[in-house]
Amino acid sequence: MKYTFAGRCTFAFLVKVTAVLSPLMSLCLIGAYAQSSTVIPIETQHYGLALGVDADKRVGILYFGTKLNNASEYQYAPAMYRQGDDYSGILNAAYTPSGSRNLVEPAIWVTHADGNTSLDLQYVSHQVQKTDNNVSTTNILLRDPVYALEVMLYYKVYAQENVIEQWSVIKNNEKGNVTLHKYASANLYMKANSYWLKHYHGDWAKEMQPEEIRLTSGIKVLDTKLGTRANLYQPPTFMVSLDKAASEDEGRVLFGSVEWSGNFRVDLEVDPLNNLRIIAGINPHASAYTLGKGQEFTTPMFVYTYSDKGKGEASRNMHRWARKYKIMNGNGSRLTLLNNWEATYFDFNEPKLAELIKDTKKLGVDMFLLDDGWFANKYPRNSDKAGLGDWQENVQKLPHGIGYLVKEAQNNQVKFGIWVEPEMVNPKSELYEKHPDWVIREPQRPEHLYRNQLVLDLSNPKVQDFVFGVLDNILTKNPDVAFFKWDCNAVIYNAHSAYLKDKQSHLYVEYVKGLYKVLQRFRAKYPDMPMMLCSGGGGRVDYAALQYFTEFWLSDNTDPLERIFIQWEYSYFFPAISHDNHVTDWGKQPIKFRTDVAMMGKLGFDIVVSELKPEDLKFCQNAVSTYKSISEVVWHGDLYRLASPQENDFASLMYVNEAKDRAVMFSYLVSNRYGDGSLSPVKLGGLHPDKKYTVKEINLYPNTKTTISGETSYSGNYLMTIGFNPGVNARRTSVILEITEVQ
Ligand code: GLA
Repeated sequence: MKYTFAGRCTFAFLVKVTAVLSPLMSLCLIGAYAQSSTVIPIETQHYGLALGVDADKRVGILYFGTKLNNASEYQYAPAMYRQGDDYSGILNAAYTPSGSRNLVEPAIWVTHADGNTSLDLQYVSHQVQKTDNNVSTTNILLRDPVYALEVMLYYKVYAQENVIEQWSVIKNNEKGNVTLHKYASANLYMKANSYWLKHYHGDWAKEMQPEEIRLTSGIKVLDTKLGTRANLYQPPTFMVSLDKAASEDEGRVLFGSVEWSGNFRVDLEVDPLNNLRIIAGINPHASAYTLGKGQEFTTPMFVYTYSDKGKGEASRNMHRWARKYKIMNGNGSRLTLLNNWEATYFDFNEPKLAELIKDTKKLGVDMFLLDDGWFANKYPRNSDKAGLGDWQENVQKLPHGIGYLVKEAQNNQVKFGIWVEPEMVNPKSELYEKHPDWVIREPQRPEHLYRNQLVLDLSNPKVQDFVFGVLDNILTKNPDVAFFKWDCNAVIYNAHSAYLKDKQSHLYVEYVKGLYKVLQRFRAKYPDMPMMLCSGGGGRVDYAALQYFTEFWLSDNTDPLERIFIQWEYSYFFPAISHDNHVTDWGKQPIKFRTDVAMMGKLGFDIVVSELKPEDLKFCQNAVSTYKSISEVVWHGDLYRLASPQENDFASLMYVNEAKDRAVMFSYLVSNRYGDGSLSPVKLGGLHPDKKYTVKEINLYPNTKTTISGETSYSGNYLMTIGFNPGVNARRTSVILEITEVQ
């Protein structure tokens, strides 16, 4: 009786609510309360979660949301809810084990060395380690009372940025192997009347297509099983609003993202008490992981931020954190560039590239980026059908090698960057002929190709050496190469590794770990080299990868109208300094519109400069110098999304610098119906209400006049209360405004 009873005592009942309970129950609970005094607050500057240890030593989430002034009061929160009975007593578990009393989706599910599948996790101890005044990590040790299995939960708090990174380390102290069937990074628990999930789906050229839905009882799963190019169909980023879908400036909202470049899974479970359980981490699909005696498994991190002031603040939190702590050189600068992919595709040679390098200089950008097609001889890379894997310069196209192009770039005072796709192989290649065992393939089944290629087996250390060598060889021979574009154009089919032998279910995990080993090795040797993360567009955009990259390619879709929507959605999670936007010939819009759209991130071009009309060339040259004058604000400023393209005929957003004395506002027409445009003023954001600002239109097309005088000065208060009309209409389809404090 006592056991059953204790089993049904949730932490909610372990606090001071004994008055309403039966005498017998009170007795039990008073005893329980006496033993359950540990509350572990994990707080950022404004938000936090509070964990509590109950009488059964189970760690539960007592509260998640806006921080209380007094952390000792978190313990009273659960008792305020009358949501019904939690039959397991652990619906709010901080890391839900499978196979003991749990009745819902677990965070961890194992088979012990003796074949038993039950797991119970009890509190042992916790510690807080301070890295500096801003960053601290709480770790909580949990142990099974019957089996020698431990889990350490980690919560890394970035106080000023209001961001938490969470992960777990699972340790096997048993006498033999333990199998991990599910091993999540994080397990959260939130309370609201309703939950609104904004998530994304996509495909090639259709990245970040949003959907916002109300979560109903049961589990909504966001996941991928593609292995590489993992977020082609679904990215690991999402947001959950509480009670109603949050707007930019209002509402309670959590932004989350799994920091893992392979198969991920996020379970969003509205439980029987109408609370929301979020379990995020590696996708357990086909990935049972054997943990040898004495070994431990460190899960990837799950990063999240929370705001009670809407999606705008949540994304500014994420951006500040990403710039300061995650993205490589997030507070630095970026190279503007001319890329040859759409200008030439595979059809180029030395003289043609030498001309393009001259055009790079003429345009005024910092670097020429040589794309796909420069390598392979036995099976020349003249299309995507052959040559991938053979990383020697093609002697027909580049008889004098990369070194000649680097020199040409130097002669023109521009830098030189180069494209690689080192994880992949075409069956028509020397690499494939020499090392068929390096390729992920099912030996007994027909090969199935994606873009005519297969994926190399990065779980194999020899393949890791090879992949590292692709970049290292280029840099050893050509130390002045200044930039890499690292592409990844295929998913994993027939997931089988010759190297992993009887551990096939480790492949998806070991692939990603192998990739990180290569990237770590690369960064150890080349800590400062800027590098673009690309995956046939935005097929691999996550914060684990971005710690090795300075920027990412959002989509191969560069139609500027589409781009406004794609860039908008990425902007919730990833700061502008990481967005590579190129002006191309996709879309029918004038060059000004295309350039203005690319300028809201890192500007690049992928056009035939020599074919530009003189006025268009003049415009582009001016745009490059205008961009240089505003890039500081775009790269490091705070983003305010002002008018959504989903809800208006036009889109507006702005970046404001930290001192609030400079801002840049971008506006674009996204509809071509008669009379559409910015009919009313757009309320600005992020300015100082008492400062005075001028508003000036910049980046005008040669010989056009602005309708904005630029003479009047307005207070920040005016601009944020009444707003300003950028005057977007069918004749002015894109407008960039510079907002400067009047000294
Ligand atoms: C992918 C990239 C493109 C380009 C091509 C080259 O599709 O996204 O930008 O580099 O590969 O093959």
